[in-house]
Amino acid sequence: MSASPNSLRAQASGAMPRLHPGAGFAVGDETALVELQSIAKSFGPVEAIKNVSLKLRRGRVHTLLGENGAGKSTLMKILAGVHEPTKGKLFLRGQHVTFSCPSDAQAAGISIIYQELSLAANLSVAENIFAGHEPRRLGIVDFRSLYQRAQDLLDDLGIDIDVHTPVARLSMARRQLVEIAKGLSRNAELVIMDEPTSSLSDREAEVLFNIVGKLKARGAAVVYISHRMDEIMRISDDISVMRDGEYICTHDKNETTIGALINLMVGREMSDVYPRRATPLDTAQPALLEVRNLTIEGKFHDVGFAVRPGEIVGFFGLIGAGRSDVMSALFGLGRPQGQIVMNGKPLRLRSPESAISAGIAFVTEDRKHEGLVLMHSIAHNVTMASFERKGSRFGILNSRFEERETRDAIARMKIRAAGPHQAVGNLSGGNQQKVVFSKWLALKPRVLILDEPTRGVDVGAKFEIYRVMRELAGAGTAIILVSSELPEALAMSDRLVVMREKRVVKEFETAGLTQEAVMSYATGAVQA
Ligand SMILES: Nc1ncnc2c1ncn2[C@@H]1O[C@H](COP(=O)(O)OP(=O)(O)OP(=O)(O)O)[C@@H](O)[C@H]1O
Ligand SMILES: [Mg+2]
Repeated sequence: MSASPNSLRAQASGAMPRLHPGAGFAVGDETALVELQSIAKSFGPVEAIKNVSLKLRRGRVHTLLGENGAGKSTLMKILAGVHEPTKGKLFLRGQHVTFSCPSDAQAAGISIIYQELSLAANLSVAENIFAGHEPRRLGIVDFRSLYQRAQDLLDDLGIDIDVHTPVARLSMARRQLVEIAKGLSRNAELVIMDEPTSSLSDREAEVLFNIVGKLKARGAAVVYISHRMDEIMRISDDISVMRDGEYICTHDKNETTIGALINLMVGREMSDVYPRRATPLDTAQPALLEVRNLTIEGKFHDVGFAVRPGEIVGFFGLIGAGRSDVMSALFGLGRPQGQIVMNGKPLRLRSPESAISAGIAFVTEDRKHEGLVLMHSIAHNVTMASFERKGSRFGILNSRFEERETRDAIARMKIRAAGPHQAVGNLSGGNQQKVVFSKWLALKPRVLILDEPTRGVDVGAKFEIYRVMRELAGAGTAIILVSSELPEALAMSDRLVVMREKRVVKEFETAGLTQEAVMSYATGAVQA
């Protein structure tokens, strides 16, 4: 905490922030709730933000749009008091303020829902929601009131979760809902949502859009970050585009189009996001991986499907349908009943190691906990799954191998980084996802399981991932694609397996298939 007289420590004890001394008049725009003026932020040699100015108004949803690494999260972390800007000023209700830690920003009425979930897995939902501002009586945490208030908050938000549940037991989607509730547990005037829907299915996203509507009605300003263009067009009032750390422009939602925004964002024309298959699939080939009657009581029941070499089989279902649990079982996690057959031979998967040695790779949906070692370099992360198999002799990693694989990965996936040795934790969210993807590609798997591989990646990077999927399939890899984005699942898959309530309810050929047909099975409107 700096000793600067305009710092907001006074605000924490109930006083209002004061004018910047010497200004003599209100220097910011008082009609804007928050104004960022010529903000810049560098991390060593990396210029993450260069001279960005923005105004955020009450009762409006202001969306930030930009490719992975454009600087969106960094800019918002400056507003949230996580980073101090290298240059520039912040104004709150026309008054110059400085935040030197997150609690300064919180005290000033700014709340942020982080892109990378910040929950403590061993604590309950309620403890997480009120972490740092637990209700107290006589100085002691009042647990009755804590649980009651947390439950009231969730009920009010329309989120159906028991507040006593430890967060570790929740799915990614539910954790994200808890993260949202946590961000809303203080009555903030500015609410920043950094990719809040990235782990949510359409149905849960609706819950969030309702919440956004309520915040607007209450007169709060909302900053919204997302890569999902359709939802951006639905909920935004103002849309600002950032590119390479720079502010490009702001448009009223009603005066722009998705196409125009994408062009501004990537700085070039993008026509088709989904690359087509280059050669038709050879359907005469026998299955590479076949699953029969796979069951883990309570998680999924009687699941059966097959994937041929070169085929992409999509898995679609609402959150909680059981798709991720099936994929974990195929990766040696869990002890399913039933059969897994690879190349005609039964496969016993006792652990992820046994799955990897059978040629199965798994890109998980939870990059923070399963996919990456954030403290380590890109090089280490990209090669860690494969070095035991190829790059090392007697367990010693061949650094030339590591260097080459990593440079290939950075070029192939267009990972935006200072170099192969940058720590993964410092990459933007979407670039971390590209590292997860690269790590499993370095294994050259025969079966590649992708669980929401394009979550949080921008349109340009999505295209790269799709292109690599096509390339791998073309070379004979069997791919299983779990996706909650129906257009993606339809465009990329040859066949689509629909799960509902922990069972396979339908299998489709995707040629000519409509979203409506798939949804009717996924929601149960049509019974299998
Ligand atoms: N702590 C840090 N140290 C070094 N570099 C950082 C740090 N935080 C962010 N960066 C860099 O700043 C740039 C902007 O990252 P930021 O996370 O703001 O992007 P973003 O627009 O939110 O992207 P995404 O859509 O992928 O979430 C990236 O090049 C990133 O590597
Ligand atoms: Mg980000």
